[in-house]
Amino acid sequence: MPPTNLFISAPAPTPPLYLRRPIATAAAALLIVIILVAAANPYAPWHTNSTPTALLHRPVSSAPAARTSFYTFDVIREYPHDPYAFTQGILYGGNDTLFESTGLYHRSSVRKVDLKTGKVLVQHEMEGRMFGEGLTLLNDKLFQVVWLKNEGFIYDRHNFSKHESFTHKMRDGWGLATDGKVLFGSDGTSRLYQLDPKSIQVMKAVTVKYQDNEVPYLNELEYVNGEVWANVWQTDCIARVSHEDGIVVGWIFLHGLRQHLWNSGNTEIDVLNGIAWDEANQRLFVTGKLWPKLYEIKLRPVDGPQDGSVEKLCPKASFYR
Ligand SMILES: *[C@@H]1O[C@H](CO)[C@@H](O)[C@H](O)[C@H]1NC(C)=O
Ligand SMILES: *[C@@H]1O[C@H](CO)[C@@H](O)[C@H](O)[C@H]1NC(C)=O
Repeated sequence: MPPTNLFISAPAPTPPLYLRRPIATAAAALLIVIILVAAANPYAPWHTNSTPTALLHRPVSSAPAARTSFYTFDVIREYPHDPYAFTQGILYGGNDTLFESTGLYHRSSVRKVDLKTGKVLVQHEMEGRMFGEGLTLLNDKLFQVVWLKNEGFIYDRHNFSKHESFTHKMRDGWGLATDGKVLFGSDGTSRLYQLDPKSIQVMKAVTVKYQDNEVPYLNELEYVNGEVWANVWQTDCIARVSHEDGIVVGWIFLHGLRQHLWNSGNTEIDVLNGIAWDEANQRLFVTGKLWPKLYEIKLRPVDGPQDGSVEKLCPKASFYR
């Protein structure tokens, strides 16, 4: 399938669900909407005729190389993805299969999924009180962390019934990845941890920064070509992080994906979350929570903002449910 141009104008922010329900005090609601619209002003660049869209179409200039690179994307292929999967961790497991961890209470699971059809091949349902989060695969073992708990699980990749638990010392369990030696972990802060896979002790932790500003809400992680790539919660951006020092060496702008889904009527989707890397075939996959699609994408370098103000390009998607 040829690359698809998914750049389209951003959807207008939708008020939260409770505002869409009939309410007695219409005047109060109107006032809240006015406040919300006013509050949405910082998001203005994302709307029609947005600067980011124009910016992302600009060819790379021959400006002096900065340490940060910026990327947009081309869609190579799209695959079905379970729209009820609240994707919290995903990775490529070889042979056109994915391993996925899903969240939400009473709906959390660990799954083996067929890439091409999106079909769940094997599923382990977690206890109802467990909210699944990051997942990674090391030596045939799947490591999974859980939201709001210091408890995690290790599964046999060939038989999810064989599992044991561990405890970790991160503040919370959000994302996991591995370089084949250590586990990289995120806990919703700007900290990127390195855990020993045997003892689960924290061996090292760095603070992820872009231009001296901390980058909080590090979420789903993937190890790609020596870097740790992190979804930044509630944004359409992936930070490419040097795990040595926590410096963001690149930003990937993916807002076109969520906008495309939204504009196709998928208004129940949640945020972008989920990066899987097929190292052998150099294939990059991304998806999101409750997204009906998983995309294979290729990155394309673009110029970054002149003033480097990535905050404007990676705003929080809090208006989107
Ligand atoms: C790859 O997956 C297919 C389909 O599930 C299966 O028939 C085949 O045995 C698998 N091959 C390997 C090497 O695991
Ligand atoms: C999976 O592991 C469980 C627990 O050890 C065992 O009872 C079961 O037979 C295994 N299933 C397969 C298909 O190997």
